[in-house]
Amino acid sequence: LKAQHVEINGTSYKTNSKITNVTDSIIKLTGKSLHLKESHPVGILRDLIEKKLNSVDNAFKTFNNFEPVVTTMENFDSLGFPKDHPGRSTSDTYYINETQLLRTHTSAHELECFQKIKNNADNNRSAFLISADVYRRDEIDKTHYPVFHQMEGATVWKRTKASDGSREPAHLAKIRNDIKLVENQLNKENVKITVNDDTIPLSEDNPKQEYMSDLEVDLCSQHLKRSIELIVSEVFNKKISSMIENKGNDIPKNLKVRWINAYFPWTAPSWEIEVWWQGEWLELCGCGLIRQDVLLKAGYRPSETVGWAFGLGLDRIAMLLFEIPDIRLLWSSDERFSTQFSKGSITSFKPYSKHPGSFRDVAFWLPKDKPDVHQVHENDLMEIIRNIAGDLVESVKLVDSFTHPKTGRKSICYRINYQSMDRNLTNAEVNALQNMVCSKLVEEYNVELR
Ligand code: PHE
Repeated sequence: LKAQHVEINGTSYKTNSKITNVTDSIIKLTGKSLHLKESHPVGILRDLIEKKLNSVDNAFKTFNNFEPVVTTMENFDSLGFPKDHPGRSTSDTYYINETQLLRTHTSAHELECFQKIKNNADNNRSAFLISADVYRRDEIDKTHYPVFHQMEGATVWKRTKASDGSREPAHLAKIRNDIKLVENQLNKENVKITVNDDTIPLSEDNPKQEYMSDLEVDLCSQHLKRSIELIVSEVFNKKISSMIENKGNDIPKNLKVRWINAYFPWTAPSWEIEVWWQGEWLELCGCGLIRQDVLLKAGYRPSETVGWAFGLGLDRIAMLLFEIPDIRLLWSSDERFSTQFSKGSITSFKPYSKHPGSFRDVAFWLPKDKPDVHQVHENDLMEIIRNIAGDLVESVKLVDSFTHPKTGRKSICYRINYQSMDRNLTNAEVNALQNMVCSKLVEEYNVELR
């Protein structure tokens, strides 16, 4: 029987046996705040990006201490997510009860931050950065973990009317000037950014908002894109410099990026930036011009402001920069990991012996009355495994799935790789974990083991 309450970071929340799917193993991670640890790869990266963005004109106010529990309103409704959006499902999201959940993105705090910065819009522009841990139910492998970190950035300009005799409203000059400031900073960077296809025309599926003029859209998106390119050049500059130090000088100092159209319910138009890195396009950051709806909900007057927002994942970039091969290492308390990094510097992780893994298969028939494989959602299986074996599991892969030709019953088989980051696991230990996984699967889903 599930408890009636859960405690998260010292606050007690009511649960609901029908919807609650947050587990003890996840709750244990809610207080870790890796983004605030100044000698942790995630914290180092966060600090680096904050400093770089604020080196331009010190416009960003930072919010790095939001609690992870938010409402469905904050995470979805206020941002315009449709009621049937898949992100809302219990197979993707950790719910505490019907109205509270572990945020799935830092955008959950956008509205609140727009409210907070509303009155300190001194020189007609205000901006914020949010960094926080975010939670998503997902598969288990080297690059996925149910908790990761995002940084959200946003800025708004107060709109003005053209005064008599002047060609254009004053805020346009302000935005133009702000673009110059970012460009000046970009030009000072060691790593040069080349933009492929900067001018993808706005299309029907990525339209501008009515209330903004073409020129405003153009200026705001230039400022947005140059700001994100500044982040990219800073982050990769550190990486490329350390590669040159280690491996000699034949590493190119320019980076190819491209802007592609995207869709987010609370921005229009929307884009994503991709970076050409080691032979492939790497998706780094989603962004767009903030929808007026969101600004209205934050208490701004109609058509009072224009602005942009972006959101980027810190963990994946940190893994790339620090050459961390397995995402579980970010959560390791092993000193051989934690003592390798220090504030402000990007260094390559030096592996301290890899302990062998041990494969175990779990194969089962789905219950007859539930022929659909989705009755046991893959993420539910992942959760069972995480809860029992935690970070002792390196990956879980679907290796076989077939339907019996006569009986029509469906069988599936997953291969679990048990492997610890810090020590060797004994066979007995692995067997015990595997047995627990199997019994739990039978108990919760009534499957028949093969
Ligand atoms: N929250 C989005 C995500 O998690 C990123 C984003 C933030 C996109 C802000 C647009 C504006 O993918």
